[in-house]
Amino acid sequence: MFERYISPIGINDGSRGSLSEVWIDKEANLIKKLYKPNGVTIRNRLPFHRNMIEITKLYNNELYWTTKLKSKYLVETYEYGALTDEEGFYILQEWPGPDLLYYANEDLPLIFPNLADQLEEMFSLFKENNMYKLNCAKCNLTGSNGNLKCFDFKYSVVREAKYTPVELRSITHWLSKIDKSLIPRLSKYVLL
Ligand SMILES: Nc1ncnc2c1ncn2[C@@H]1O[C@H](COP(=O)(O)OP(=O)(O)OP(=O)(O)O)[C@@H](O)[C@H]1O
Ligand SMILES: [Mg+2]
Repeated sequence: MFERYISPIGINDGSRGSLSEVWIDKEANLIKKLYKPNGVTIRNRLPFHRNMIEITKLYNNELYWTTKLKSKYLVETYEYGALTDEEGFYILQEWPGPDLLYYANEDLPLIFPNLADQLEEMFSLFKENNMYKLNCAKCNLTGSNGNLKCFDFKYSVVREAKYTPVELRSITHWLSKIDKSLIPRLSKYVLL
C-alpha cells in the first residue's frame, strides 16, 4: 500500500523537500514521486518549484541522467510519464530501503560493507559520464543487501569548472560526515 512520506529528519540534516510529493510502498519496495505544482513535499509543504516550465525541466533532467547512468549504482526507474488528471509528472522507482540518514553513522559500515569503495565507484561512474550530481548527500543515497544506490538527479549538470566547488562541497560538507577519508578519496573524481 502506498503511503505518503514525510521526512522524520531535521531540516538541517535532511533534504529540503524541494519538489516531489513522495509515496512509498515498503512491502512492494516501490516509490512514486509526483512532480506537480501543488504537491505536498516530504517537508509537508508546497514545492519550491511551482512553475510548470521549471518542473518540466527538472523532470526531464532527472530522466536524462537516470537513463544515461543506468547501472547497479542507481535505483531502478520502472515507469514515468505525465499525470492524466492534473498538471505534472510521475516517476515510479525502486525503493530499496530508507535513505542513509536513517542509519546511525556507526552502523553504516555494518549495513554497507565497503561503503567507501562503493562511493568511489559511484563517483567514477559520474566522472565517466562527465556529470556533476551536485547533491550527493546521505538524503539521496539508499540501498539494500549491502549495495549502495543513488537517486535524485534533477539538479545534475554536465561538468563545467564553475560547478566544481559545489560538487566538492557535497563531499566536504555532507559525505565527510560518514568518514573524513572520503574527502581525498572522492575529490579526485571531481577535479577537472
Ligand atoms: N528511490 C528512492 N529510494 C529510497 N528513498 C527515496 C527514493 N527516492 C526518494 N526517496 C526519499 O524521498 C526523499 C525526497 O526525494 P527526492 O530527493 O527525489 O526529492 P525532492 O523532494 O524533490 O527533494 P530535495 O530536492 O530536497 O532532494 C529522499 O530524500 C528520500 O528520503
Ligand atoms: Mg533529494
